[in-house]
Amino acid sequence: MQIVVLQGPNLNLLGRREPEIYGRETLDDIHRALATLASELSTPDEPVTLRCHQSNHEGALVDLVQAAASDGTDAFILNPGGYTHTSVALRDALIAVGLPFVEVHLSNVYAREAFRHRSLVADIAAGRIVGLGAQGYLLALRALVNRAAEAEPG
Ligand code: DQA
Repeated sequence: MQIVVLQGPNLNLLGRREPEIYGRETLDDIHRALATLASELSTPDEPVTLRCHQSNHEGALVDLVQAAASDGTDAFILNPGGYTHTSVALRDALIAVGLPFVEVHLSNVYAREAFRHRSLVADIAAGRIVGLGAQGYLLALRALVNRAAEAEPG
């Protein structure tokens, strides 16, 4: 199973950026923890491989989503950052590609400003994990691997 982790704008600043909201773990810490879990969830028949990307640019994120349509990617873990609340282009790309994804937010967006309550990708996500910090990414990975195993014939 091939999973692409897509991290939106400002998530490169994790650890330093508003740690009282986003925690003290860096993006590298999160990606390392995901890689460790991916190897734990791998079996000889079904290896779980991860590719992690972060961009501050909307078009670059759209390009990464589009590239996944033809490179063997099975699913995304997606934290679109601020683009969650604004990006029609990212939503359109996710619909065009049609791969399942779990939307992750470190913070509980519903306990914050009203503009963060709306997500333009929520209704097309396979599921959403909000407010559980870095752990949300690990739960998303487990969920996608379980979902794929349940979908397998036999
Ligand atoms: C975020 C929440 C967004 O509202 C914000 O713009 C982010 C991070 C989160 O992970 O909690 O950049 O997606």
